[in-house]
Amino acid sequence: MNSFLVIRSIHITCVALSLGGFVTRGILRAFNSRLLQTRFVRVIPHVIDTLLLVSGVRLAMLIGFAANANWLLTKLGALLVYVVLGSVALKHGSSRLICVASWLGAIVIFAFIVSVARTHLPLGFFARN
Ligand code: HEM
Repeated sequence: MNSFLVIRSIHITCVALSLGGFVTRGILRAFNSRLLQTRFVRVIPHVIDTLLLVSGVRLAMLIGFAANANWLLTKLGALLVYVVLGSVALKHGSSRLICVASWLGAIVIFAFIVSVARTHLPLGFFARN
């Protein structure tokens, strides 16, 4: 297997782990679970998200950033929105309603990012065929 496919596999594995971790932490937060304070739950998501970003940047270098700038920049912009919504959902939301709404919004943005990655189109699943 060439290095592109290896890094792409790592990237996609991190995508799945990152989403699974985010969904789980949102549920734990909604039920005020003490599991959220454990070292494992606090540290592992940062490790996975760092690996997700590093593998994404490496993939972008391998396929050429300039030639793919339109959908890659959309992905990065949507990633920023995801990070903001995620931090409201898991940390800064002042009520359960705000936390749950931000959590759901973050999951929709995450799905949009995946659709942009799969189609290489800036509009992702909003693009007309
Ligand atoms: C939440 C963040 C991210 C998600 C959910 C995500 C999702 C994905 C998915 C599902 C794929 C595989 C697409 C396919 O089936 O071909 C992929 C590939 C890729 N991602 Fe990401 N990604 C994220 C972050 C990033 C970042 C930060 C970068 C770089 C700036 C990046 C760059 C790439 C590149 C270059 C590919 C390879 C596309 C190809 O196969 O030609 N990703 N991403």
